[in-house]
Amino acid sequence: MGSLTVRNLPEGVKKRLRLRAAANGRSMEEEVRLLLAEGASEAAPAKAASATEPARRPDAAPTRSPARHILLIIAGGIAAYKSLDLIRRLRERGLAVRVVMTKAAQEFVTPMSVGAIAGEKPFTELFDQASEFDVGHIRLARDNDLVVVAPATADIMAKMANGHADDLATAVLLATDKQVLLAPAMNSRMWSNKATQRNLKVLCADGIITVGPNAGEMAESGEAGVGRMAEPLEIVAAIEKYLAGHPDAADSIDGIAKPLAGKRILITAGPTHEPIDPVRYIANRSSGKQGHAIARAAAAAGATVTLVTGPVTLPDPPGVKTVHVETARQMLQMVESALPVDIGIFAAAVADWRTADMGGQKLKKEGKAPPQLSLVENPDILARVSKLKTKRPKLVIGFAAETEKVVEHATAKLWRKGCDWILANDVSAESGVMGGDRNTIHLVTPKGVEHWPTQSKDAVADMLVARIAAALNGKPR
Ligand code: CTP
Repeated sequence: MGSLTVRNLPEGVKKRLRLRAAANGRSMEEEVRLLLAEGASEAAPAKAASATEPARRPDAAPTRSPARHILLIIAGGIAAYKSLDLIRRLRERGLAVRVVMTKAAQEFVTPMSVGAIAGEKPFTELFDQASEFDVGHIRLARDNDLVVVAPATADIMAKMANGHADDLATAVLLATDKQVLLAPAMNSRMWSNKATQRNLKVLCADGIITVGPNAGEMAESGEAGVGRMAEPLEIVAAIEKYLAGHPDAADSIDGIAKPLAGKRILITAGPTHEPIDPVRYIANRSSGKQGHAIARAAAAAGATVTLVTGPVTLPDPPGVKTVHVETARQMLQMVESALPVDIGIFAAAVADWRTADMGGQKLKKEGKAPPQLSLVENPDILARVSKLKTKRPKLVIGFAAETEKVVEHATAKLWRKGCDWILANDVSAESGVMGGDRNTIHLVTPKGVEHWPTQSKDAVADMLVARIAAALNGKPR
């Protein structure tokens, strides 16, 4: 095979090969390899259509390999360097990534480094006579589940909004019948410019979806504002959210559309209320939003979810078995009766103490001195489940609510409690996390710490579900 190149084949054979490869959704090289393998095998009759069989139209739905395909278009901006990490993150998750680079993108990152990380050469030319694996812009445009433009510069957005097709990237974007996701990245002035905002409106009206841009420092020294490309993990979460919500966008046999199908997940959420007397209780500010969001995301990803929740004002998540409890001890009891499960996620802000002796009647003032509350420690549900000899879930995930030295304290908790991962968050009053809608997570595992961007609690839930799915598939954290 080493010395055989498709280019050296006679034109007629090449043409038939091209049609056959297109019909089967394979590259010409893969097709040749398959034919050779079939030829070499005496026992197995050839399964693929013969080369003389009438080929399907090249634009007919190809037989796709199980992996889901992302077409990543890298446009020319300084954020292009982050696209290398994006490719790596996508491949870690078992997604196949094919890359198109604009001419300007090649000024920022080289096709060689992109190719090394993507596992195949990026496509750069609209008319590439020399390419022996002639994929063509129409197949590039269609042979994928999602087209992602990251970074999406002001220029490529303008071209898209106006239907230009003067290079491979814009031709693909015009020809695609797939969803397009943009991760805009540009100087904040360019982003807020009326022309860019007008183009954005047109693109959104055309059904294109976006992730970011974020606020922060610009590449230009001393400038800050909105225009930074979303972080690779945010883009990955947006991609996974799209793919999970559109199982029809991809093969279902790979299980990625429902990456947690068949898994049983137990989640705790919310505060606990520890009674002082029949009308008063000890509580905390937890809203339960993060745990409920995780339950929703896990159910959407196909898991069978049991949510044990303390008192919250949220509706029960759809498709989730929700068990309502008041106290830490009730929560422990319900958790134990929900075992065994594959994964345990302990997001509840369990009250650490309860009163030692709750009276049967309301405590009365009756001119007496204030009562002295005597407290006893509540069971640590996370630690107990983590240390179970039998019935321990394969993956035990805790949270760490900290107000200072967040990662340091969370790391100590990971070891002390014996869980596998800890999602640490800063719950100081200034962070607005407790009761709020956004969260900044630091994922602490025995392998290290990963800092997630500040994002909605729903996005955190999506990212966690994606992480769990990758871990179950044996992918690195
Ligand atoms: N947790 C639990 N049962 C408890 C206390 C905590 O299951 N009685 C779990 C929480 O759900 C969370 C993790 O332990 O997953 C850490 O909770 P956190 O409140 O951050 O820590 P504490 O263990 O309470 O320690 P400290 O109050 O000293 O920070």
